[in-house]
Amino acid sequence: MVAMDFRIATSDDVPLLAKMNRYLVQDEGHRNAGMTLVQLTDRMRAFLESEYQAVIFETDGEPVAYALFRPQGDAIHLRQFYVVREHRRRGLGRQAIDILRQRVWAAGRRVTVGVLTKNEKGIAFWRALGFTDYALELESPPGGAPPQSL
Ligand SMILES: CC(C)(COP(=O)(O)OP(=O)(O)OC[C@H]1O[C@@H](n2cnc3c(N)ncnc32)[C@H](O)[C@@H]1OP(=O)(O)O)[C@@H](O)C(=O)NCCC(=O)NCCS
Repeated sequence: MVAMDFRIATSDDVPLLAKMNRYLVQDEGHRNAGMTLVQLTDRMRAFLESEYQAVIFETDGEPVAYALFRPQGDAIHLRQFYVVREHRRRGLGRQAIDILRQRVWAAGRRVTVGVLTKNEKGIAFWRALGFTDYALELESPPGGAPPQSL
C-alpha cells in the first residue's frame, strides 16, 4: 500500500482545491464544467467558510486527492471527492475513504454521496466500496417537460 498522508485544508489551500475541483467537474461531466477557475475558487472559499471541511491527501508530499464534506443530520455528506488523474486505479481513492472513516469522521457515522447518473466510473467506485442506492434525484428541464400529446 502506498504511504498516504492527510491534512485538514485551510484557507491557504483554496487555490489548490479549486484547481482540483475544476478537473473533478470535467471528469464527472458536471454542468458546472462551464464555471471559471475564479468562480470555483470563490465557491470553494465560501464552502470552507461555512460548515464544509476539506481534507487533502498527499503521497511523497504531493497532493493526490481531496474530499469536501459536511455533517448533515446523522450523516456525513460527501460533496466532492477527487483523485488526481495520473494516480488513479492504485487504491488511493479507497485508502482516502478509509482514512476519513477511521481518523476524520466520528465513528459510526452514515456517509452519503451524490453521483451524476452518467458518471459510471464514479458509481463503480462507490459500489466497490460498499455504497448502495439510497435516493434518486430527478429533474425537469427549465420550463417543464414538453406537453404530452393526447
Ligand atoms: C472515482 C475515483 C475517485 C476513483 O479513485 P481511484 O483512486 O482510481 O479508485 P481506487 O483505485 O481506490 O479504486 C477502488 C475500486 O473502485 C472501482 N473503480 C475505481 N475506478 C474505476 C473505474 N474507472 N472503472 C470501474 N471501476 C472503478 C474498482 O473496483 C477499484 O478496485 P480495483 O482497482 O481493484 O478494480 C477517481 O476516478 C476520480 O477522482 N474520478 C473523477 C471524480 C469522480 O468521479 N469522483 C467521484 C464522484 S463524486
